[in-house]
Amino acid sequence: MAVRPLIAGNWKMNLNLANARELATALVAYMKQESGLDMVVCPPAQLLAPVAVCLEGSSLGLGGQDCHAQASGAHTGDISAPMLRDIGCRYVIVGHSERRADHGEIDAVVKAKAAAAHAAGLIAIICVGETEAERDAGGATAVVEQQLRGSLPEGATAANTVAAYEPVWAIGTGKTATIGDVVEMHAHARNILREIAGDGGALRVLYGGSVKPNNAAAILAAAEVSGALVGGASLVAEDFIAIANAAPK
Ligand code: 13P
Repeated sequence: MAVRPLIAGNWKMNLNLANARELATALVAYMKQESGLDMVVCPPAQLLAPVAVCLEGSSLGLGGQDCHAQASGAHTGDISAPMLRDIGCRYVIVGHSERRADHGEIDAVVKAKAAAAHAAGLIAIICVGETEAERDAGGATAVVEQQLRGSLPEGATAANTVAAYEPVWAIGTGKTATIGDVVEMHAHARNILREIAGDGGALRVLYGGSVKPNNAAAILAAAEVSGALVGGASLVAEDFIAIANAAPK
């Protein structure tokens, strides 16, 4: 792993205020003595403000789980990139497979959201990944290529963009891609990023999908893996910290 690792926690639609504060406080304490990696937590929208308070003065980053492509307006239930920035976020996840599946977000929508994130000064964590049926049909690399080409906006650089490869079949299932599959897909993603982003060689590419303390070291040591996007295990401080500790530094 040539670049500084990024360990990102996607809390999804989990935790209440008390749990969130407790988890954030434990991670802030961890990051006080850990300077070899970047860590970010992405709480659900209603927890962003209280978690931002817990994170004041910490190197632990805050991220949203989604943003609208517009900066403001009549979009009931949505949250914009400038709003995330205003509340203390530095990151936002866009194009997560759960957003793509539950909200019909196609690549063009993801691209517009990532562009909105950049315009607001946020780092967009752009997610891609094939379904099990796509992998079984031999189409995994083509799907990931199409999603990367379709979801990265103009002007994406290593400073404002992180890519995350999350095979849909590995999310929340306890199944992980083999290290061989991870290496193959990350090499493929790297080649595409070199072509489509100015400094695509430096852009971080995270792996996500059932990353746990017991498999993190092998995944994080794989070529072209620059960190992890963690769901379930990011809800438990000791598990998330164990994953961070497994990152090569
Ligand atoms: P799990 O780690 O729970 O599989 O979730 C991965 C994910 O979707 C992170 O965005």
